[in-house]
Amino acid sequence: MTASADSTGTGTDTDTGTDSRTGTDTGTGTDTGTVGTDAAAPGPDPAAAALVAAWPHAYRQGVAGHPVLLMLHGTGGTEHDLLGLADALDPQATVLSPRGRVTEIGMNRWFRRLAEGVFDLDDVELRSDELADFVTAARAHYELGGLNLVAVGFSNGANVALATALRHPSTVPHVIAFSGMHPLPGRVADTDLNATSVLLLNGESDPMAPLASVDALAAELEARGAAVQQVRRTGGHGVTEADVYAAQGWLAR
Ligand code: MLT
Repeated sequence: MTASADSTGTGTDTDTGTDSRTGTDTGTGTDTGTVGTDAAAPGPDPAAAALVAAWPHAYRQGVAGHPVLLMLHGTGGTEHDLLGLADALDPQATVLSPRGRVTEIGMNRWFRRLAEGVFDLDDVELRSDELADFVTAARAHYELGGLNLVAVGFSNGANVALATALRHPSTVPHVIAFSGMHPLPGRVADTDLNATSVLLLNGESDPMAPLASVDALAAELEARGAAVQQVRRTGGHGVTEADVYAAQGWLAR
């Protein structure tokens, strides 16, 4: 599901319809650079440059002192979907927004599923490991140094963000999860989550992200040392204005 398919009607359809590879501006009015990568541009690390060039994504350089927002779209989305959400969260952030590389009936996703809400857990692990590799390569390629990174995902993007944070907490230490759930039930990683922080934003009646799964995830994260904040609202799957407001506050804390 894309953010624009949100039945809660939030107006967070952020798909600009632009091609990230052309250097098209996001159209937000913020002067923080352009979206797009130049696959031919030599980076300081050729291996990182090759990995980054091979993975479709949107990129915008931000302002010093602001975080990198790793934007992860929902099922059927693209790397453009959440650019407006990134601007709403921090218009001066650096934005790194890759495209999910799994296809389900023509829809981009982050990992395979066997049915709605029933994930191919081996694929979740594989794809989250690949995403962590991409983030590491992008950090080197774009020379992001020690900038703080916050993954911001919606739905399937939230789930891959959470899986990557569980498995690679030093690469993805912070997550804002809109309508996410436990991505790896029953799979225990022994990573140290003491420096991890997670914001879980969920609707109380969301059949695609059942609260029992969200609660199990929160309990596991906390048991392993993560700082977890949960925000519940009425309604179902989606990104509401209240969710965005809560995420802005969490980021600014
Ligand atoms: C998932 O597959 O990650 C969740 O069921 C949400 C979605 O449908 O994308």
